[in-house]
Amino acid sequence: MTQTATATAHPNIALVKYWGKRDRALNLPAAGSLSATLGPFRSRTTVTWGADRDTFTLDGTPRDGGPLAQVSTFLDHVRAVAAAPLGGAAVISDNDFPTAAGLASSSSGFAALAVAATAAAGVELPPAALSVLARQGSGSAARSVYGGYVEMDAGVRPDGEDAHAHPLFDASHWPLEVVIAVTVEGEKDVSSRDGMNRTQQTSPYFRAWIDEVAPAIAAARDAVRERDFDKLADVAEASALQMHASAIAAVPGVLYWRGATVEAIHRVRALRRAGTPVFFTVDAGPHVKAFTAPDAADAVAAALADVPGVSSVLRARVAGGPELL
Ligand code: PMV
Repeated sequence: MTQTATATAHPNIALVKYWGKRDRALNLPAAGSLSATLGPFRSRTTVTWGADRDTFTLDGTPRDGGPLAQVSTFLDHVRAVAAAPLGGAAVISDNDFPTAAGLASSSSGFAALAVAATAAAGVELPPAALSVLARQGSGSAARSVYGGYVEMDAGVRPDGEDAHAHPLFDASHWPLEVVIAVTVEGEKDVSSRDGMNRTQQTSPYFRAWIDEVAPAIAAARDAVRERDFDKLADVAEASALQMHASAIAAVPGVLYWRGATVEAIHRVRALRRAGTPVFFTVDAGPHVKAFTAPDAADAVAAALADVPGVSSVLRARVAGGPELL
């Protein structure tokens, strides 16, 4: 019996952000979130069970320490549900998008790993359980188990079995494009995990931020259903700014923005004021992601490439879910 499988998954960008946990050990979100899955970027992961120990190769380089430990801990969840002992796994993964793009490679990486590791183990999980599994690698990965527009539920159960994503609409429902304005390259100095923990523990605005999430999700869900660009723009920009406001108010402040981030936000606002359908969002990094209509994407890309401090622009569009190859 072959015990190997390969899967691909796309990263996603949250329109209503996830920032804070209700349980750190189980990686349970403090509130829901809503995202769009984005291609053509993808992670591609091959898992082969039956090894003496776990190994992890990312983009051609064998990884030890933290990254390997994270993958191993994740694989333990698969070992726990498999019918027979699986042994160690050789995990080989690559991303076809630059880490510098600030797209959460953990979202596509853990979604692809969840699909490949279970398939190789002969474990068939319903999609919600696959999302629960992916969540244990990274919160945003729970959403990359689906394509299109996706909602993540915070759930209420202590075991987190109800903390998973569900699909809202296929990519074809509203094929928006995304222009990513890459500003400062290189690793960020505070991970999303540390940033959200510090915000939760020290920011006086954390509670206020969490209180905004459920109404924002309801509004974003309606906006996507109605394909109401202005409504989605307002709710997505507010969610990003509120998330960052809560983080900036932590002690010490968690500040992911650089000068070019602010300049790119102003450029997006100017474009929208002038009638271009475009809005911005920013994740736990300095880059600006601009959602736009397909026929405006060239103009948005040109305008953002022209912002001082923007080193490059990347293009993406709403895409489908993981694939088992
Ligand atoms: O899933 P994580 O731990 O990579 O955290 C994701 C945090 C944000 O990207 C800032 C927001 C989100 O909902 O994706």
